[in-house]
Amino acid sequence: MRTLLITGGAGFIGSNFIHYYLAKHRDCRLINLDKLTYAGNLENLQGIDGDPRYHFIHGDICDKDIVENIFRETEPEWAVNFAAESHVDRSIKEPETFIKTNVFGTFNLLDISRHHWGNVDGFKEHVKFLQVSTDEVYGSLGPTGFFTEETPLDPHSPYSASKAGADLLVKSYFDTYGMPVNITRCSNNYGPYQFPEKLIPLMINNALEKKSLPVYGDGMNIRDWLYVEDHCQAIDMVLRYGTPGEVYNIGGHNERPNIQIVRTILAYLHEHVDQSIDEGLIKFVEDRKGHDRRYGIDPAKIRRELGWQPETTFEDGIIKTIRWYLDNKKWLNSVTSGEYQQYYRRMYGSN
Ligand code: NAD
Ligand code: DAU
Repeated sequence: MRTLLITGGAGFIGSNFIHYYLAKHRDCRLINLDKLTYAGNLENLQGIDGDPRYHFIHGDICDKDIVENIFRETEPEWAVNFAAESHVDRSIKEPETFIKTNVFGTFNLLDISRHHWGNVDGFKEHVKFLQVSTDEVYGSLGPTGFFTEETPLDPHSPYSASKAGADLLVKSYFDTYGMPVNITRCSNNYGPYQFPEKLIPLMINNALEKKSLPVYGDGMNIRDWLYVEDHCQAIDMVLRYGTPGEVYNIGGHNERPNIQIVRTILAYLHEHVDQSIDEGLIKFVEDRKGHDRRYGIDPAKIRRELGWQPETTFEDGIIKTIRWYLDNKKWLNSVTSGEYQQYYRRMYGSN
């Protein structure tokens, strides 16, 4: 039986990964260490809290004592680091926690893993550290071309710079100590449990509340969208089959300008929920500082070497996602009360 330490498993992708992994693998034990920041929510894990294969620990990846105790007591063979401050706009306003969690926290996990997993001959068998990273570390593309694993790192926001810093630390643990690591760099995810500060759930929530939909700049920035379950499957494959020391880009060639995403959401809600929800709600607002123009992943390596490819088309995934938010209004109301209201006012004023 394999024990996995999952960090940040109460967030959007981490919770989807835990649901995915427990459904897919019978013989496993998952330890979820999460600080439960504004983005972490135990409601994302409802239904599995009674599963004997799953154990939650409330704590910070920067805390040496907690991480050391977990390693000593549970002896994980694999560590998958989802824990991060993940929102670009927050990093522009308040970068400090991004550096603490994303850079120092990753270092802390890496170093404790090294001490626990290392022995005189190198590393214990079958151990692996997987860093969940992002295509944003590559910076911004012009109208053509794609990010490959060889694209130089060129991050522009404090968020992406902190993720690039973490990636370099992870690489250094392979280069220096020979620690078995992988780095995955995925494009924009969407799906259930995504916190409504991010484009897709924010637009769904605002439209349902008949609030204006704040589109940055000209709305023509392009993101490359992947359904979250496809990302989880790719991580599972990299854990099992990825060559130590390698980076794997993850994406499904699903590029869309932001304004098209917003129109797709509006069209669905107009037809299926309320005809008064329409494009009149769109409001073009001041652009994000340092706004990357275009992301586009070349997923050739993970397809070629591990045989991974996405299963969900954007057309199906976006409908599943909108329906999930419609069916989970209680969750949406709960995460948009409290701190979210203050964040929204700070970020968007009275829009
Ligand atoms: P999220 O913000 O939804 O969740 C982050 C989780 O980490 C939360 O549960 C939070 O409580 C926890 N956390 C934060 N600081 C912590 C700390 N110091 N100690 C322990 N736990 C802490 O993020 P997400 O969108 O699920 O992203 C997960 C990972 O995937 C991140 O590393 C992010 O950089 C990466 N990523 C995200 C996307 C995307 O589109 N969302 C795409 C590619 C990569
Ligand atoms: O590419 C992977 C990255 O995708 C992850 O590493 C990040 O953790 C994740 O947050 C996401 O970053 P983005 O900045 O691309 O996602 P966000 O949802 O914040 O924005 C998507 C696009 O929509 C971006 O071009 C900015 C724009 N946008 C966003 C918001 C929140 C708007 O126009 N209006 C908005 O209100």
